[in-house]
Amino acid sequence: MVACRMKATSNEHQSVMLTEVIEHLAIKPDGIYLDATFGRGGHAQAILQQLGPRGRLLAMDKDPDAIAYAKEHFVTDARFSIHHGSFTELTDVIRRENLIGRIDGILLDLGVSSPQLDNPERGFSFLHAGPLDMRMDCSKGVDAATWLAAISEEALMKVFWEYGEERYARRITRAIIAARQETPITTTRELADIIAAAHPAWQKGKHPATRCFQAIRIAVNHELDELEQVLVQSVAALKVGGRLLVISFHSLEDRMVKHFMQREECGIELPAGLPIKHLDRHFHFKRLGRAIKPSTKEIGMNSRARSAILRIGEKLL
Ligand SMILES: C[S@@+](CC[C@H](N)C(=O)[O-])C[C@H]1O[C@@H](n2cnc3c(N)ncnc32)[C@H](O)[C@@H]1O
Repeated sequence: MVACRMKATSNEHQSVMLTEVIEHLAIKPDGIYLDATFGRGGHAQAILQQLGPRGRLLAMDKDPDAIAYAKEHFVTDARFSIHHGSFTELTDVIRRENLIGRIDGILLDLGVSSPQLDNPERGFSFLHAGPLDMRMDCSKGVDAATWLAAISEEALMKVFWEYGEERYARRITRAIIAARQETPITTTRELADIIAAAHPAWQKGKHPATRCFQAIRIAVNHELDELEQVLVQSVAALKVGGRLLVISFHSLEDRMVKHFMQREECGIELPAGLPIKHLDRHFHFKRLGRAIKPSTKEIGMNSRARSAILRIGEKLL
């Protein structure tokens, strides 16, 4: 396996809404759980603490560094297993273990981990000078520099506009296209400087490249497509009464999760007048409570929690 990390950087990640996740997973001591975004295992550790000797925790992550961490710190626990890959492979992983329809709870804690953001070599952050990579799985796919060199002006503007909700998408795109005609953009610093120079409305406390970096990361990692796929697969993997918990950090992701859970709960809208009664339709999922946000205290201690939203659902049939 390829390890992304070249320099030793901090492995610390503060898990978001840890208490809320454990409470709403309602862990049964001999249950089977799946943490599809292992990161540095903060949630995984807390789940294992609630499990008895017959319980199981399967974990997945795209990031080779996360897998290396799990192998170093978790695999001596016989209840735990780790799988390297995208959570879009969830069905395959669960099928190999003969666990389809038998999972008691699935956690998706989306986005990036602190070690990914803080390691300059990974190229996620405009705050650190590094290669423009941004892949969660640096063992495959196309890095952000290659992606940026090939994308059309129109498509780049759409990415900034839709994924970054960046008001100045057009100006920034033009600046990037002009710059790349001179010389390829290969580092985070070069890209951050181009965006900062083109951005006309700097906000206090927010780097002008924040939205564009986030947008490129979402595009390079196909984050929205993969989220749509894993949501469908998760419901199929759960047992009746099993729970799905999703923490998102971006309004587009949260909207996707919210609409998915609504559709699963209510079914698709049927045209009025069809000879089908509400009670004849089989509903196989229900949302549990409203969306949960981190407490002010948690945000005070961990500013990366501030945009987090947790949604929970339960499989019914
Ligand atoms: C916010 S961190 C999770 C932190 C973790 N819950 C903890 O307590 O340490 C998100 C993790 O999800 C992983 N990830 C993101 N997208 C993924 C995908 N499509 N498939 C698998 N892992 C993914 C990232 O590599 C990262 O390690």
